[in-house]
Amino acid sequence: MKGIVLSGGSGTRLYPMTRAANKQLLPVYNKPMVYYPLTTMMMAGCRDILLVVNPADEEAYRRLFGDGSQWGLSISYVTQPKPGGIAEVFLLGKNFIGNDRVGLILGDNLFYGDSLPALAERGAKGGGAVVYAYWVSDPQAYGVVEFAENGNTPVSIVEKPKNPRSNWAVTGLYFYDADVCDVAATLPRSPRGELEISDINAHYLKAGRLMVHKLGRGYAWLDTGTPSSLLKAAQFVETVEDRQGLQIGSPEEVAWRMGYIDDGGFERLIDPIKDCEYGKYLQRLLARG
Ligand code: DAU
Repeated sequence: MKGIVLSGGSGTRLYPMTRAANKQLLPVYNKPMVYYPLTTMMMAGCRDILLVVNPADEEAYRRLFGDGSQWGLSISYVTQPKPGGIAEVFLLGKNFIGNDRVGLILGDNLFYGDSLPALAERGAKGGGAVVYAYWVSDPQAYGVVEFAENGNTPVSIVEKPKNPRSNWAVTGLYFYDADVCDVAATLPRSPRGELEISDINAHYLKAGRLMVHKLGRGYAWLDTGTPSSLLKAAQFVETVEDRQGLQIGSPEEVAWRMGYIDDGGFERLIDPIKDCEYGKYLQRLLARG
């Protein structure tokens, strides 16, 4: 399976923090924001990853990730000339996707929960389209899915509705079969000039090929698109990490735990950073085995 991490956009809601820095490179507590969605993709079993970035930020992302081989991944890059909508990734990434199933995660979404890897893996292995819904207090800000009376069958998906038909927001983690590139190619642009991910999902829904998994109360799904939500996400990460002494969203750790790198590879990553807090944390993991 292929994976796409969408890390472009203009980040206007975080201005002036995003005047000179790309939003997904801003820190969420102790790591760049993009580490969190990247590691979610890695936990879903995805090792062949395309990063979609703004032309001005490509160099910074290459500095951060390189070709991904240090984490047992293959990371490639494509630039999005301007923010033309989330679904544009399926035009930009057509060659990368080829005939494979593909996962997409938004670079500003943070997921946390014990059985998330298994849930994401189900999306990776399923057919058609698989998306995840999360109960929120402010559904107007999201794509919203409405369910039939049985509570499980999705009946509509609408992007940022003024009068939401439910509180179930569609999260920024999606899995599709390779048809998604053709679906994106036939979509009209929305009134705001974007190719909308909700229109892709509505297309699969109409074709009876959309599966929506509800994420229950045992999961945290945070988005980091406003100053307040960015701060809350940082506080969440700090609280959990401090309590457990275990980090959220470390690519080195996930690569090692998933078996993408062996002990020797892990040690080589730690060596140059062994004097900083992050390096010491990784060292402790290796010592514990
Ligand atoms: O977070 C989940 C929500 O994400 C979904 O419920 C909505 O259906 C979906 O449209 C999206 O809504 P947002 O308003 O949060 O999308 P936003 O424009 O903030 O973009 C989300 C991420 O994707 C952000 O990290 C920037 C990146 N992006 C966005 C666009 C439109 C790009 O890299 N390129 C783009 O063209």
